[in-house]
Amino acid sequence: MVKTYSEHSNPNMRRPVVQQGIVDFMRNQDQALPAFLQELQDFAAAENVPIIPKETVAFFRFFLQAVAPKRILEVGTAIGFSALMMAEALPEAEVVTIDRNPEMIQLAQENFARFQEGNRIRLLEGEAQGLLQDLKGQSFDLIFVDSAKSKYVVFLQDLLDLLPQGGILIFDDVFQGGDIAKLPEDIRRGQRAIYRGLHKLFEAVGQHPDLMVSYLPLGDGLLMVKKEADLVEIFQEAL
Ligand SMILES: C[S@@+](CC[C@H](N)C(=O)[O-])C[C@H]1O[C@@H](n2cnc3c(N)ncnc32)[C@H](O)[C@@H]1O
Repeated sequence: MVKTYSEHSNPNMRRPVVQQGIVDFMRNQDQALPAFLQELQDFAAAENVPIIPKETVAFFRFFLQAVAPKRILEVGTAIGFSALMMAEALPEAEVVTIDRNPEMIQLAQENFARFQEGNRIRLLEGEAQGLLQDLKGQSFDLIFVDSAKSKYVVFLQDLLDLLPQGGILIFDDVFQGGDIAKLPEDIRRGQRAIYRGLHKLFEAVGQHPDLMVSYLPLGDGLLMVKKEADLVEIFQEAL
């Protein structure tokens, strides 16, 4: 029997940061996915597994084909949907993806074994912080970060070190259902670490002269960061 994964679900997906009518409109315009991705998307919806929503999928497929990265790193695999979507969009690309949750790792491994796109995906098991350091010296043209949000800023320097000049970082779910635009005192206690961590991230990337930044209101918000120069140092103690 299939378990439910509600403990992993993202309640902010039910608090769209764009008018619900527009979100519904965008989702209805989306072009059909290959059958195997549709199957995984249906599974995630039925089992409450948080994967990127349809409008983010459409953006990624368009953007990936326009930019054509050769090596992609993902932090946050879940069932492997976005990793398989990226491998399908780019038949030449290699995808490395990281997750620490044993249940998710097992489902992702099964999915990578079932579909041929999985041959170009390598799953690294464990806590992202240590694994990012193990990857030091490697280079990824695109890094997609879709893991625990309060840690994004902690990963930032290691992520930038893995990007070549011109490389792109994309962080998912940065709007937190709109909470991000509120004052700190209006944030519920349980959400404050995420709120503070995300604001430190925005400050670090926004003020950095070597980084170009853009926010997109897709899903619960994407933060796009392009590394313009080779020497980017973010001083963690200042964050
Ligand atoms: C939102 S889901 C990823 C969804 C996936 N990117 C997709 O769209 O198909 C987040 C995943 O990140 C993993 N995760 C969260 N924090 C992590 C960390 N610090 N290290 C490794 N994995 C982490 C969780 O176990 C979970 O499976």
